[in-house]
Amino acid sequence: MKKKVSVIGAGNVGASLAQLIVHSGIADVVLFDIAEGIPQGKALDLAEACPVWQSSSSVLGTNDFADTTGSDIIVVTAGFPRKPGMSRDDLLFANAKVVSDVVAGTSKLSPDSIIIAVTNPMDVMAQVSMDVSGFRPERVMGMGGILDSARFRTFVAWEAGVSPEDVEALVLGGHGDLMVPMPRFTTVKGVSITELFSAERIDALVQRTRHGGAEIVSLLKSGSAYYAPAAATFQMVKSVILDEKRLLPCAAYLNGEYGVTGYYTGVPVVLGESGIERIVELKLNAEEEKDLDKSVVAVKMLVEKLK
Ligand code: LAC
Repeated sequence: MKKKVSVIGAGNVGASLAQLIVHSGIADVVLFDIAEGIPQGKALDLAEACPVWQSSSSVLGTNDFADTTGSDIIVVTAGFPRKPGMSRDDLLFANAKVVSDVVAGTSKLSPDSIIIAVTNPMDVMAQVSMDVSGFRPERVMGMGGILDSARFRTFVAWEAGVSPEDVEALVLGGHGDLMVPMPRFTTVKGVSITELFSAERIDALVQRTRHGGAEIVSLLKSGSAYYAPAAATFQMVKSVILDEKRLLPCAAYLNGEYGVTGYYTGVPVVLGESGIERIVELKLNAEEEKDLDKSVVAVKMLVEKLK
């Protein structure tokens, strides 16, 4: 039997993620939304693409949590997106309610599942998902670091005039304006960008990465990015479903790692079939530590606000 992934929220991110999973054929998909007809219509459309994609994934659109029963992964994309001028944090209260409701509605029906939080402000929504589900922290994680690193990779690739495939990048911290792009750990075919570009150019790439989400919101005017967020989430889903043990930056619940206890933040983790199998602790210099602390404080403030 194929693994089952339930995607909660059939908006742009949810539907794009469903497309990537169904196209890959690695799992069956249930697409859930409260809007009647939307998940059904998008699921039917995806099902009708399967013969052309040569995919044997099944895809079901539904307004009923019962259809998500027995999922291996639950991806939470439901919630309100940003409008121009809004930060991810402005969505806190409205999206905490949505995420609590959908996690309460799905986690009991899939007690052995892994939850991936995508809804913003993501690090806090991961914490809400863990609290509401009662799942162990290894089984609840958030998507942010892969997206932010992908943006950094893109900008570095343009700067270097090479394919983004040949660029590795790392972004740590919360998925917010204080995220921490890490130039020392960002390389073009193994060579750190600190040896390739001037400090001014690196700073410009870092700033563009930090505001990468807002840059797209301001262009789209309504709604936020979805192709890259869906691609990043798919990489996490795939690593879990196929037990790939990819080393990826994801929001993980920290219990002393990086000097943080009791909060989610973006760190490198090994992702496999049991979820977060390992948190990798990098040796940071004083400036990197300071930036990471600042980013974690921003996450903590949102968590406290919610209480
Ligand atoms: C972004 C939003 C979706 O980074 O968080 O594009």
